[in-house]
Amino acid sequence: MSETEFLETAIDAARTAGSVLLEWQDRFTVSEKNRSDLVTEADLESQEVIASLIGQQYPEHGLLGEEGLEKSDGGSGYRWIIDPLDGTGNYVHGIPYFAVSIALECDGDLAVGVVLDPTRDEFFTAVRGQGAHLNGQRLSVSADRISSLEQALVMASLPVGVESSDDPAIARFLRVLTVAQHTQRTGSAAMNLAYLAAGRLDAFFSTSLKPWDMAAGALLVREAGGRVTDLSQAPFDISVPSLLASNGSDVHRQLAALL
Ligand code: IPD
Ligand code: CA
Ligand code: CA
Repeated sequence: MSETEFLETAIDAARTAGSVLLEWQDRFTVSEKNRSDLVTEADLESQEVIASLIGQQYPEHGLLGEEGLEKSDGGSGYRWIIDPLDGTGNYVHGIPYFAVSIALECDGDLAVGVVLDPTRDEFFTAVRGQGAHLNGQRLSVSADRISSLEQALVMASLPVGVESSDDPAIARFLRVLTVAQHTQRTGSAAMNLAYLAAGRLDAFFSTSLKPWDMAAGALLVREAGGRVTDLSQAPFDISVPSLLASNGSDVHRQLAALL
């Protein structure tokens, strides 16, 4: 089994899931898991097709997906980390900034990552040690153009359903807002990381992410030459909700100091 084969499986699964998301557009019903945390038939069917495709191909591999999907790796060392629809809030309101995110971890290291924007048919792919690509074109982060926060477009993910204006995530957002050239919140962490890998934005941070929000995107950023840590610049850990990803320039240090 090679990483290229795994990538092909991830691409097949994401393509099928992307079609599911587009088919459900305009006819889904919405349920609330928690305040502002939404799920639709599209999320569930997307996860179902991904799990079934990967399960047929690699029955011995572990699975972790947002919508209650968890299967042990049976000692194989492989675990697929799946967000069947990242950006459900956008999807529900008709904003075409959502994605399918699929990653494969091998013995705890990210080996393959795919983020698909089905609306624009943009396929962001990464294989450990082999770079990141968008529809086959090699990607690189913006470090050659953007090296200070004053020049940077920074994305943030605030927690879903913030309950108080005293939430420290808001104070952090405001601190960045007063320094960065642009500070935005989009509603899809996976898309933000893919866009960072593509040099379309320069940094992304959050303290409330789940493994499926960031697994594929973190590998994309690394493979495009960027840097991924937690907010205190400690090494990236998928089970830790704090993430600071950047183009690897001094923007990273400046943001860490500010946050
Ligand atoms: C959400 C998005 C959002 C992030 C939230 C996630 P979902 O994922 O990635 O950007 O701020 O923390 O829950 O619920 O749309 O899959
Ligand atoms: Ca998500
Ligand atoms: Ca999701």
